[in-house]
Amino acid sequence: MSITYKTPEQADKMRVAGRLAADVLKMIGPRVRAGVSTDELDRICHQYIVEVQGAIPAPLNYKGFPRSICTSVNNVVCHGIPGPKVLKDGDIINIDITVIKDGFHGDTSRMFHVGEPTVLARRLVDVTYAAMKLGIEMVKPGAYLGDIGRAIQRYVESERFSVVREYCGHGIGERFHEDPQVLHYFDPSRGKGEELRPGMAFTIEPMVNAGQRHVRLLPDGWTVVTKDRSLSAQWEHTILVTDTGFEVMTLAEGDTL
Ligand code: MF3
Ligand code: CO
Ligand code: CO
Repeated sequence: MSITYKTPEQADKMRVAGRLAADVLKMIGPRVRAGVSTDELDRICHQYIVEVQGAIPAPLNYKGFPRSICTSVNNVVCHGIPGPKVLKDGDIINIDITVIKDGFHGDTSRMFHVGEPTVLARRLVDVTYAAMKLGIEMVKPGAYLGDIGRAIQRYVESERFSVVREYCGHGIGERFHEDPQVLHYFDPSRGKGEELRPGMAFTIEPMVNAGQRHVRLLPDGWTVVTKDRSLSAQWEHTILVTDTGFEVMTLAEGDTL
């Protein structure tokens, strides 16, 4: 596999898909409350994507994933499968939305607090958002992929949290997951990595644990949890490298980073 550089026409299609994915997160926000099950959140998102947006929920049947969105609660790091689990006050949840429109993918996720957050949960969610933002702000032609991971890891560890290593951001376009891999930490064995060039599109989606960085895969083959059962948070945007810097492709109308 190799990196695909998007033409202006392809970038336009990714803008549309990205906007739709962001709109789903906007739509579902008010429904993320104590008493709702993650299955209900999945059902509402699925119906909105298919019937209102005329788009395709990319996770459904992707490598056998059984639902249309990922819902990752508390100590779940990523790829949580919606089910009968009911949200309760104090929970944190990541909802990860990927839609396909006109052949192109938009991939974005964010954290929600259910009721009143604990001091730790609020700090973890805020630090993870700031880490994603720092990573995004490294993006410009002539910078390197390694700059992104270095900025994220340095900040997260300065806050005494840890960065998950096993999962990373990814190129995106006509395929859900393309080259390059976008690490959220600095790997000396890879060095500075690929140089960023206009037309590259990839996600930045750091997973940050309140405790140790190590993770475990549950027997369902999807759900990733923290080994030490500590809380975990994640935020994700799809980014385009432009001639002068970056464009966030997964913002809803009027929103800013
Ligand atoms: N949306 C996830 C990502 O950010 C991937 C989910 S794969 C699925 O890359 F199969 F679990 F949906
Ligand atoms: Co992604
Ligand atoms: Co995602």
